[in-house]
Amino acid sequence: MLARVWSASIVGIDAVKVGVEVDVSGGLPGIVILGLPDSAIQESKERVKATLKNAGFAFPIRKIVINLTPADLRKEGPAFDLPISIGILAASEQVKPDLLGDFLFLGEVSLDGSLRPVAGVLPIAATARKMGITGLVVPCDNAQEAAVVEGLNVYSCQNLTDVVDLLNYPGKYQPVQLEDRVELNQELTHPMADLQDVKGQAHARRALEIAAAGGHNLIFVGPPGSGKTMLARRLPGILPPLSFSESLEVTRIHSVAGLLKNRGSLVRHRPFRSPHHSASGPSLVGGGSFPRPGEISLSHRGILFLDELTEFKRDVLEFLRQPLEDGYVTISRTRQSVVFPAQFTLVASTNPCPCGYYGDTIQGCTCSPRQREQYWAKLSGPLMDRIDLQVAVNRLKPEEITQTSSTGEPSRFVRERVQKARDIATNRFASENNVKCNAQMQSRHLQQWCKLDDASRNLLETAIRKLGLSARASDRILKVARTIADLAHDQNLKPHYVAEAIQYRTIDRMQ
Ligand SMILES: Nc1ncnc2c1ncn2[C@@H]1O[C@H](COP(=O)(O)OP(=O)(O)OP(=O)(O)O)[C@@H](O)[C@H]1O
Ligand SMILES: [Mg+2]
Repeated sequence: MLARVWSASIVGIDAVKVGVEVDVSGGLPGIVILGLPDSAIQESKERVKATLKNAGFAFPIRKIVINLTPADLRKEGPAFDLPISIGILAASEQVKPDLLGDFLFLGEVSLDGSLRPVAGVLPIAATARKMGITGLVVPCDNAQEAAVVEGLNVYSCQNLTDVVDLLNYPGKYQPVQLEDRVELNQELTHPMADLQDVKGQAHARRALEIAAAGGHNLIFVGPPGSGKTMLARRLPGILPPLSFSESLEVTRIHSVAGLLKNRGSLVRHRPFRSPHHSASGPSLVGGGSFPRPGEISLSHRGILFLDELTEFKRDVLEFLRQPLEDGYVTISRTRQSVVFPAQFTLVASTNPCPCGYYGDTIQGCTCSPRQREQYWAKLSGPLMDRIDLQVAVNRLKPEEITQTSSTGEPSRFVRERVQKARDIATNRFASENNVKCNAQMQSRHLQQWCKLDDASRNLLETAIRKLGLSARASDRILKVARTIADLAHDQNLKPHYVAEAIQYRTIDRMQ
């Protein structure tokens, strides 16, 4: 007998509906899977066989042909275990076939019949709804993630027996309710590191506030132990919370990467990713034969922190250039090409030279000019050009170090100011699809929103001449000046905003 069950496969951060056709007929006993399955699906033959027996069902000792459609799409992953099992049970008349067309099935099965969570359930749930499927059957740990999609009945099952029971006696089961939808728009408590722990460093704190308000890329340059890493790690705590639609976008990417925690509910905090400097190109931008998102996409709508930037391999850093400009990355493979979103804020830190003390007030630098040149050569001009805020972090004064009372302003106050500046930007770009903050402005936005008076224009021209700035760097100065004006709730770009933005080009000045 022939049975057809629905499932889905992930392509990039989208899903494609996949039909699992199972034919059980006479002939030599055996099982074949057709339709470009990967090795995990091939292995499911043996898993499903053992599982059906252990869960108390009969495994048909006949010829079983399983065909995955569309035949030209490569399919991967253990999520097909459940639809294959159900297909075999339906084709051997152990479950009623009536409801099979209404449901989409996902789940890995253990040998004892229990269901294990799989990656990519959120995009699959969204696709299922679009395609008119009314019910989705998933393992318990994926249920909340799937329930985020409205208009779809999600059924959470612990084991194979539950799924069979659901198909035979549908009246017994209720769809899952989303536990935390009500809380989604409430303010989050931030358990993150707080800016109030940071002593002194007013200049660097101000740069963090501007970076958070405008989504600007930032690099801290300073001697060892001056607090660069400490400062950078406090950026997430002053960022505004994700909106519901942003949260869905981020959850989708993390779901595909199999990184969802907390039983698969929505990602609520802006991502903060800090890959080690040994990271490879594909791990940073995404890759693999079934392309998976890399660190830049996992930090979409959040922060990518590259600590000790000069330790990263130069060619790996070069991969960042295009996504930093475009906000997405395209991964091309022979059979498919996928696009991953990558609108992240780059935050980096580095020492000013190999010994670490160039420009330090106390300890002298022991590097030769040639060594310093080689050191900076690792960071190409085009990459540094894309970093709006280049901030020198100097060592603390002795009296600042020994301060016992915490004098730093707590993150929550800074976050309030950042939120107000972001609200101004959100209103400004209300009619734009792809621009959410000042750093994402294009040339036409600059013409509209960053008009300069004569004094400001003179200032910028002098800076371009003296620092040898590129057109991109000068655009970036305008964007930063726009954010500084927003923080001051000022519609116009005044010369002192432009002047402050120019002085965040420390590295251009050093060179
Ligand atoms: N401004 C500061 N206020 C309070 N503590 C600080 C400050 N700066 C540094 N520290 C202390 O020094 C430690 C080291 O700082 P951090 O790791 O951020 O230095 P770094 O600049 O990243 O150094 P490296 O270049 O070696 O990576 C911090 O964990 C903290 O305890
Ligand atoms: Mg550090």
